[in-house]
Amino acid sequence: MIKKAVLPAAGLGTRFLPATKASPKEMLPIVDKPMIQYSVEEAKGCGINDFIVITGKNKRAIEDHFDFAPELVEYLKQKGNGDLLDEIDKMKGLSFAYIRQGKPLGLGHAILCAKPFLNNASFAVLLGDDIIDPDDKLLYEMIQVHNETKAPVVALQEVAQAEVSRYGIIDGNLVKGNTYEIKSLVEKPPTDKAPSNLAVIGRYILSPDIMDILADMQPGAGGEYQLTDALNILLSERKIYGYLFKGKRYDAGDKLGFLKATIDLALKRPEFSAGLLEYIRMISNRL
Ligand code: UTP
Repeated sequence: MIKKAVLPAAGLGTRFLPATKASPKEMLPIVDKPMIQYSVEEAKGCGINDFIVITGKNKRAIEDHFDFAPELVEYLKQKGNGDLLDEIDKMKGLSFAYIRQGKPLGLGHAILCAKPFLNNASFAVLLGDDIIDPDDKLLYEMIQVHNETKAPVVALQEVAQAEVSRYGIIDGNLVKGNTYEIKSLVEKPPTDKAPSNLAVIGRYILSPDIMDILADMQPGAGGEYQLTDALNILLSERKIYGYLFKGKRYDAGDKLGFLKATIDLALKRPEFSAGLLEYIRMISNRL
C-alpha cells in the first residue's frame, strides 16, 4: 500500500516568470484551484492521506492554502454557502508536512529532503505542474503495477521526437499491457541520441532504497541532482517499470500548457462549458 506522497514544489518556476518572481508556481490557479491541489486530489483518490511538500523561498502560500481556515468556514456557514464549504472540506482529514529545500538543487535532491518523513516505505511522487486529467486514473494504475511487482514504477508518455530533449527518456521492453521493463534512462538527450520517444512524466512510485543512492550522488545534467541518474543506478540493483499513460496530461509549468489545461478543464465544468465554448467559437471565427 502506498500511504504517503511527496510533492516537490521548491523549483524556481523560471518558465513562468514574471508570475513566479514572488509567488509559487504551484499556487497558480487552473480554473479555480491552485495547480498543486489537483495532485493532492489525485493522490487522495488513491487512498493517500499524508503529504510531504518540499518548499523553498516564496512558497509560504502553499502552507496557508492547505491549513485550516476556521474564520472562512464560519463565514461560509453563516452565509449558507454549502457548495464552497464542500470545496474547502475536500482537504479535511489530510495531513501535510513541509520541508524547506535550502537551495533548488534538483528534483533528486528535493526528494531526498523527504527521507525523514517516509518511514522506510515506498511512496508516491507527484509533480504539481504536471496536471493529469482528473477523469484519468494514472496514479491508481501505477499503484496496481507496484502492488503486483513490488518495484518502483515511473509514468511514461509518448512525446514527439522534437521534444525528447526536454525530458528523461527511457529504453525498455513492453512486458504487459502498458507496462515496460526499463533498461536505462537518459536525462534530456539530444534528439538524435534518444533511445525512444517514451518520456518520464511527473508521477513516480519509488522505493526507499532510492534515498541512499540520492544521498551519495553527484550533480548531473544542468548541475542538478537528477532523479533520472539515481534511477539509472538503482536499475543495476532491481527492476524498475514504466507505465505508459495514454490519457491527457498538461505541462502546466509551461505557459502554453497552462493555458491549454485551463481551457480544457474549464470546458469540463458544466457551469462554464456552454459560455466558454460559445466564446471560443466566436473568436475562432474572427481569426
Ligand atoms: P521543473 O523544472 O518543472 O520546475 O521541476 P521548476 O524548476 O520550478 O521550473 P522551471 O523549469 O524553472 O520553469 C519539476 C518539479 O520539481 C520541483 C519543482 O518545484 C517542480 O514541481 N523541484 C525542482 C524542486 O522541488 N526542487 C528543485 O530543486 C527542482
